[in-house]
Amino acid sequence: MSSFNGKIYWIIGASEGLGRALAEALGRQGAHLVLSARNAERLQAICASLPKARAIPMDVTDPDSVRRAVAEAGEVDGLVYNAGAYDPMRSGDWDTEAALAMTDVNYLGALRVLGETVPGFVQAKRGEITLIGSLAGYHGLPAAIGYGASKAALISLAETMRHDLAGTGVTVRIVNPGFIKTRLTEKNAFKMPMLMTPEDAADRVIRAMGRRRFRTDFPAPFSWLVRLIDYLPDFLVYRGK
Ligand SMILES: NC(=O)c1ccc[n+]([C@@H]2O[C@H](COP(=O)([O-])OP(=O)(O)OC[C@H]3O[C@@H](n4cnc5c(N)ncnc54)[C@H](OP(=O)(O)O)[C@@H]3O)[C@@H](O)[C@H]2O)c1
Repeated sequence: MSSFNGKIYWIIGASEGLGRALAEALGRQGAHLVLSARNAERLQAICASLPKARAIPMDVTDPDSVRRAVAEAGEVDGLVYNAGAYDPMRSGDWDTEAALAMTDVNYLGALRVLGETVPGFVQAKRGEITLIGSLAGYHGLPAAIGYGASKAALISLAETMRHDLAGTGVTVRIVNPGFIKTRLTEKNAFKMPMLMTPEDAADRVIRAMGRRRFRTDFPAPFSWLVRLIDYLPDFLVYRGK
């Protein structure tokens, strides 16, 4: 029997793409699910096909909406913070509103949700927190104003939580995917290496959730290449620019 069977997971950002695929896969493994995102209709449609799922619409950029949803969700065994927004943006095409909107969903939304849930997990001495970051959070990549920094902030947050929550019974992990074929990456005009389906990416997230490891980056070898940039001198990284 799956280790997810009978456990309650709250997936935030479950109406589309990776979050939806994750809900469907965890549902097949017998998990009870609480599904959140802004689009209530979409969530209801997904819940209709999953026997043990309920929808709680929530906008992570709105503190009242987050507080209401946390109260309605009640006690959960784990949460997956998967809500995300992305618009490719170069420094020369700066759009402050778009950069702030990405930061609000990808990073500040996580602070709002975790601020309302981590104290309860710590008090209960249990709970599992999975944050969906991105390989784009490891380096300042081209055309990622707003997005890259918000994911770097999320990775840093997870690392701090990993230190602070050690020994409390609360688990935190960061999962950093490469390119997944969703409505977000439809905005990319370039050829995306090792592009995954949401189902493949969801399987990898679930495998990460079943392990004790703090950090999971995928897919290899693309993730190794991204991490390798850390060890390269700047003259190589920015050559010809
Ligand atoms: N696609 C990729 O290549 C890729 C790569 C690395 C990491 N990721 C990360 O993976 C996660 C899922 O991305 P995806 O590609 O599956 O994108 P997606 O299909 O657009 O899904 C994003 C989810 O976040 C929800 N969301 C957006 N704004 C929200 C808000 N204000 N409040 C609550 N929920 C909100 C969306 O639902 P509503 O619109 O209904 O609110 C949707 O369910 C994101 O964190 C993304 O950064 C994606």
